[in-house]
Amino acid sequence: MKGFLPFALLFFSLAASAGDKAETVSIETAGSQMVLYVHPDGEVSFFHYGARFDDPEQVIGYKSYRRWDYGTEPPAYPARGGRHFNQSALAVKYHTGDINTELTYAGHTVSALSDDITRTVLSLRDSKTGIGVELYYDAYYDEDVIVSHAEITNGGNRPVRLESYYSSGIVLDASEYLLTHFYGAWAREMQLESELLTHGIKSIRSIKGVRTTHTENPSFMLSLNTETFSEEYGEVIAGALVWSGNYSIDFQVDETNRLSVISGVCPDGAAYSLDKGKTLHTPDMIYTYSCRGAGQASRNLHSWARKYCLYDPSSVAPSLLNNWEGTYFDFNEDILKGIIDNAASMGLEMFVLDDGWFGGKDYPRNDSDQGLGDWQVDPVKLPNGVGVIADYAHSKGLKFGIWIEPEMVSPESHLAKDHPDWIVKEDGREVTTIRRQWLLDLCNPEVQDFVFGVFDSTMQLADGIDYIKWDCNRHVESAGSAYLKDNSGFWFDYTQGLYSVYRRIREKYPDVIIQSCASGGGRMDYGALRYCNEAWTSDNTEALTRVFIQYGTNLIYPAVVCGSHVSAVPNHQTGNITPLKFRFDVACSGRLGMELQPSDMTDEEKDFARKAIGSYKQYRDLVYYGDLYRMGNPYKDDCYALMYVSEDKSRAVFFAYTIKYMGRTQRPLFRLTGLDPEKKYRISELNVGKSCFWGNGRTFTGSYLASHGLNLNMEKVYSSAVFYIEAEQ
Ligand code: GLA
Repeated sequence: MKGFLPFALLFFSLAASAGDKAETVSIETAGSQMVLYVHPDGEVSFFHYGARFDDPEQVIGYKSYRRWDYGTEPPAYPARGGRHFNQSALAVKYHTGDINTELTYAGHTVSALSDDITRTVLSLRDSKTGIGVELYYDAYYDEDVIVSHAEITNGGNRPVRLESYYSSGIVLDASEYLLTHFYGAWAREMQLESELLTHGIKSIRSIKGVRTTHTENPSFMLSLNTETFSEEYGEVIAGALVWSGNYSIDFQVDETNRLSVISGVCPDGAAYSLDKGKTLHTPDMIYTYSCRGAGQASRNLHSWARKYCLYDPSSVAPSLLNNWEGTYFDFNEDILKGIIDNAASMGLEMFVLDDGWFGGKDYPRNDSDQGLGDWQVDPVKLPNGVGVIADYAHSKGLKFGIWIEPEMVSPESHLAKDHPDWIVKEDGREVTTIRRQWLLDLCNPEVQDFVFGVFDSTMQLADGIDYIKWDCNRHVESAGSAYLKDNSGFWFDYTQGLYSVYRRIREKYPDVIIQSCASGGGRMDYGALRYCNEAWTSDNTEALTRVFIQYGTNLIYPAVVCGSHVSAVPNHQTGNITPLKFRFDVACSGRLGMELQPSDMTDEEKDFARKAIGSYKQYRDLVYYGDLYRMGNPYKDDCYALMYVSEDKSRAVFFAYTIKYMGRTQRPLFRLTGLDPEKKYRISELNVGKSCFWGNGRTFTGSYLASHGLNLNMEKVYSSAVFYIEAEQ
């Protein structure tokens, strides 16, 4: 479409029905095409998503040679009812007790939202009940991304119950479907699992309400027609849901061997009452298609996210020191000032005061047992307030950030005693604690005001708060809201409540950098990242396990959102001991920070840190905004590498890590395929006396580096290297 559509021109307007002829709706990007097929009787089936075949008209009259009277053509948006027998994106229960919905074509529109974005809206209606669905498909031409969601309107004259209301569905036809998705737990997020789908339904979902991305993540990659996950080859479709609450992504290989994927809010216990005339907006589902393996799929998602989704990716947290692992709750003004001195002397640019500064005089936060909800400064630890710490940081040239957990309340707090009705619970049941805390009910507008107020008043604690770490250390149990009449709306309304608070905050504080943290990577999703500049990738700061966590995370989310810190050894989470250089080289492939007591470091270690932080500042723009090329896979390879390349391919930074001993005879060889074969590049290893590359400091053609590759002497476990690669003018 690009090039043909004048900006904002609506060139196809609503048609009443398909009439007696079939027609197609084609949604196109530079390298992909999605085609919906409108049958003469008004049914709309999902015809194609994958490589482009251009003229969609050529498929008019297509015959599948399957029984058409048997419900075997997959609907564009499958609703429960009629002939449809696969999983349903929409399931409606009517006041009559009826359960069928039959959606047919009511028209479609196409409009250009910009030079890059074309919006197609397909309208479907159930003529009996008045239920209407608008399916939105925004095609991002250059990024090869299509973003889709459904808006469901109750056009009948009585309320209805939406028993499921997924955002979107796609249907694929391949010989094999290799599903790659994520699993994990606290401090072990985004581990990779790949499996060949067989007949039946496979779901990835969370019903934890908040902190939904520790175990699974609402995202996936599907490698088509292959049993192997490949970085560089083959067709891959990746997806991610823009939502921070319960989700379900359901994959069904049916009797026709086609795969249907429906994605959206998890319907479990979440039926939604929709009054007459009301519309429910479902969250966006992002898709991308790549014919060049998982690597290109990630790059598509990353460049789309940086351009269209992330909250202001141009403002990235500076390199920082967070005091959590250095002090935990045990600090005072002098200790913090000492940390700030050290941070400044190593060249770090921000100090972040973590948990433990509040609770007032009655419930001081000396451990995780009390104080949440009472956001007054602890007068014993910080008798002169937070302002002096911020001022001190500023006087040393550092920015200042602070931790809050505004959705939570400790049973031991004034807030819990004053507002028991604000706590998520069901009457007559025990209110369980996790980490000795309860969750506040964001369905309730008063609680939304309170949570906004916590953020707002924290911002007033000092002149110049540059960064807020927003934590969330439990999930929902015994869901229930004293505010709602019908608790099955809890799940959807909680997340909407959270977003409404985020929106208010962003209106008032557009520039403060917000980190989305939920016991580490429990809120790593594109919904939260629309409001938060970054996420805390994991509470696991240990470099070896971080290689895996960051590898998984960066399949879907770009490095610019991944907080990544150097911590002490033995590591507090895993007990592992890795060299300081390895720890830095892993942390520098994301948004670098440190999280330790720097006074425990030797002078030699501080010197190394100074050097590594200094060189990071020279290349960090590549980590944030460059194209990511992964070389190998830490799950398979003993030595794993990645490279970020500038858009014009004139600069790159390359990281390599030996994560397993490979013996004396094998040595890693990395083909740098992301460079320009025509250019000559100078290769310089950073932060070492003796390089692990024989050609260090010399120039090589991009074609040599891509076809033969960079061979490195990295025999020992935890050897690591960072190379700066620059094209000669
Ligand atoms: C969570 C966060 C940590 C730290 C602690 C403080 O676990 O993920 O980084 O902030 O809370 O209690």
